[in-house]
Amino acid sequence: MSAIELHTINKVYGNSFHALHDLSFDIRDGEFMVFVGPSGCGKSTALRMIAGLESITSGELRIGGRLVNDVDPKDRDIAMVFQSYALYPHKSVRENIAFPLHMAGLPKAEIASRVDEVARTLELTTLLDRRPALLSGGQRQRVAMGRAIVRKPAAFLMDEPLSNLDAKLRVQMRAEIASLQRKLNVTTVYVTHDQVEAMTMGDRVAVMKGGVLQQVDTPQNLYKRPDNVFVAAFIGSPSMNLYEAVLNGRTLTLGSNNFEVPERVFEYRPSLNGASHRQVIVGIRPEHMNDAAIRPSSAEISAPVTLVEALGSESMVHLNIGAPWVDAGDPDAVADIGDERAAVARFSPKSTVRAGDIARVAVDAEELHFFEPVTRTSIW
Ligand SMILES: Nc1ncnc2c1ncn2[C@@H]1O[C@H](COP(=O)(O)OP(=O)(O)OP(=O)(O)O)[C@@H](O)[C@H]1O
Ligand SMILES: [Mg+2]
Repeated sequence: MSAIELHTINKVYGNSFHALHDLSFDIRDGEFMVFVGPSGCGKSTALRMIAGLESITSGELRIGGRLVNDVDPKDRDIAMVFQSYALYPHKSVRENIAFPLHMAGLPKAEIASRVDEVARTLELTTLLDRRPALLSGGQRQRVAMGRAIVRKPAAFLMDEPLSNLDAKLRVQMRAEIASLQRKLNVTTVYVTHDQVEAMTMGDRVAVMKGGVLQQVDTPQNLYKRPDNVFVAAFIGSPSMNLYEAVLNGRTLTLGSNNFEVPERVFEYRPSLNGASHRQVIVGIRPEHMNDAAIRPSSAEISAPVTLVEALGSESMVHLNIGAPWVDAGDPDAVADIGDERAAVARFSPKSTVRAGDIARVAVDAEELHFFEPVTRTSIW
C-alpha cells in the first residue's frame, strides 16, 4: 500500500513567503499523478515535501496510511529522479544501477540479479559495462531510472526528468516512462510545466497556480470540464480562445456576431437557462472552429483573417473577433494564457482562406465553455 495523501498542506518559506496554500488531494496506490503549472507555482516544493527534502509548515502528509511529516527521507521508501540525473562518471552503467543496493548492503548475488532484471526492462543489457560519458542523453536518463527502480521503492518522484533532452527524445522517453510505470505499477508523482507531457502521461493531473491547486482530474475531464478559466486556458494547445460575451435567451453576442446556442448546452448547464443579457466569459477551443465553406454549422460567425499558418495536416487561422478577455486582476495572466490579440482556429488543410479574407467560421457551439466573469469559475 503506497497511496500518498495530502491534507491541507501549507508551505511558508522564511517568515512570509506562502508557497503552498491548503493543498489537499490523494494519490492512489499505483497511480501516475502529474503536477503541472507555470514556473514558480510550487510543483517542486510539493514534490520535495513528499520526498521529505522540505519541511511541512502545516497540514498532514501520509504515505501508505502512515503520517510522515517528520519521517526522514531515507525512511520513506521512495526514489526520486531529478532533472539533472547525476550519474557517477567513473562507474559503469552496472555499478551506477547497483549503487543503491550496495549502500543498502544487499548480498552480491541478489544485486547482480536485480541489476540484470532492471537492465532488461530498460533495454540497457548491452550497455552495462560502459561509462555514462559514452551514452546518449536518453540512455543516461534510462540509467538514472534504473538506479531508481532497482530499489523497488513504494513510490517514484520525478521532477522534470526529461527537460535536458531534445524534443524528439523527450517524446520517446515520455512514452517509455509511462509504459514502464504501468508495467511496474508503482505510485508515481511526476512534475512538469509542459501541459502536453502532463496530459499524455498522467492517469490524473493536478493543475497548480500560485501555490493553489486549481483542479485535479483525468486529462479528459480537464479538457472537457475545466473548473475555471485558468485550467481552461492552460490545458490544450493552442490555448482556448476567451471572450467576453452576452447571453440573452439562446442568443450569444460575441463582438459583432450573434448566433444561437444549441439546446444541449443548456441541458448541461441548467443555470444558463433563461439568461437575460447575462455577461459571461465564453471559451472556444481552436479545434471547435472550422471553415464554414468546408464544414457548415448552424452557429456561424464571420471574422477577418489576420494570419494563416499552414502546417500541412491543419492550418492555424488567426481571426479578429474583437478583443480577447484577459484576466485584469491577475498579473501573470497575460504571460500564462498568452498575449494573442487574435483568436486561433484550427482549420482543415483544405481550407482556402487567406490573410485579408473575411472568413465564415463554423463554431461547434455544443463545445462552448462558459465562465463567470467575476469568479472566473465554470458555469454549470
Ligand atoms: N528555499 C526557498 N526559499 C524561499 N522561497 C523559495 C524557496 N524555494 C522555492 N521558493 C519559492 O517558492 C515558489 C515555488 O517554488 P517551486 O520551486 O516549488 O516552483 P516550481 O513550480 O517547481 O517552478 P519551476 O517550474 O520553475 O521549477 C517560488 O516562488 C520560489 O521562488
Ligand atoms: Mg520546479
